[in-house]
Amino acid sequence: METKEARLAAIPKALSFDPASDRFFILDQTRLPTEEVVVEQTDVEQVYDSIYQLKVRGAPAIGIAGAYGLLISLKKHRDLDRDAFEALVHKNADYLNSSRPTAVNLSWALRRMVGVADAFPPEESTEALYAALRTEAMAIHESDIETCRLIGEHGAKLIEEGNGVMTLCNAGALATGGIGTALAPMYVAWADGKRFRAYSNETRPLLQGARITSWELHRFGIDVTLIADSVASYLMKLGRVDLIIVGADRVAANGDTANKIGTSSLAINARHYGVPFYIACPYSTIDPHTPTGEEIVVEERGADEVIYVKGQQIAPADIQVFNPAFDVTDHDLIAGFITEKGIIRPPYNFSA
Ligand code: MRU
Repeated sequence: METKEARLAAIPKALSFDPASDRFFILDQTRLPTEEVVVEQTDVEQVYDSIYQLKVRGAPAIGIAGAYGLLISLKKHRDLDRDAFEALVHKNADYLNSSRPTAVNLSWALRRMVGVADAFPPEESTEALYAALRTEAMAIHESDIETCRLIGEHGAKLIEEGNGVMTLCNAGALATGGIGTALAPMYVAWADGKRFRAYSNETRPLLQGARITSWELHRFGIDVTLIADSVASYLMKLGRVDLIIVGADRVAANGDTANKIGTSSLAINARHYGVPFYIACPYSTIDPHTPTGEEIVVEERGADEVIYVKGQQIAPADIQVFNPAFDVTDHDLIAGFITEKGIIRPPYNFSA
């Protein structure tokens, strides 16, 4: 029989890096679930676009993509002197960091990369600094794999046989370097032999729940039911949801949490119907420098994402649209944070 480790290792990956050739690849998530296309990333503008267009997406995954993206942007410039090379490190890191504002993991990972350059001994060569940056990018990636595994192990304890477990958007393997955050407990619980039903909200406007979460879970063999977003509260009223687990893009010091638009209404409905509502995230998503959700910058995206679905126009082309990509859930609606260090319960204080 296949081991639990082998089953978990077969879950698809958002990105990969070949350290022998310094080549960086992403699975283009905009083409899922109908096509599985892996695209090599060869320059910084392409990586910026891949993040902006959500070809690679999810807070931890864009952090890792930022680190590798910065690395490959420097590959052709190893003949520069140290000053010029370091100036390029800063310039390209700032540029990549401007691709999406809400997920803190992107700036966190880029800050780690820039920190390596800033602290590198001045007498060492540019080539040696480049090698140190490669090591740092790979360390960011590798630690995320282990972090996801731990989140899975801790979170799986919350899932009981026969439960209905709801999620929103995609905080699965394709949003991270490993087996996901919100989906990791489901993968681990299922691999441990627990049987439950997952409910995946489709997640308008870009349908990450329909296109990616239901694809990931179904592929693994998990009993998953796709619902239109508007079904969630009725499903809770019917008593079919025992637990909600979603991911996070940025957690403020007081526990207020930015995540995909629609998260806050799920949490409010969950409180009404007595369903425990959990956030699964690594510590790299917690931002001790943002005191409350009030200070979190929520990305607003273009009208076309709402007016068109997969290229098909569904509303007047010139209609006014409000399209925030995220919302902020109040900390007092959150039963706990499932992290690599265990489940953190209220009261929350993530101050530095
Ligand atoms: O706009 P997206 O698809 O990048 O939004 C992703 C989410 O909101 C995820 O829940 C979050 O990034 C956590 S991913 C582990």
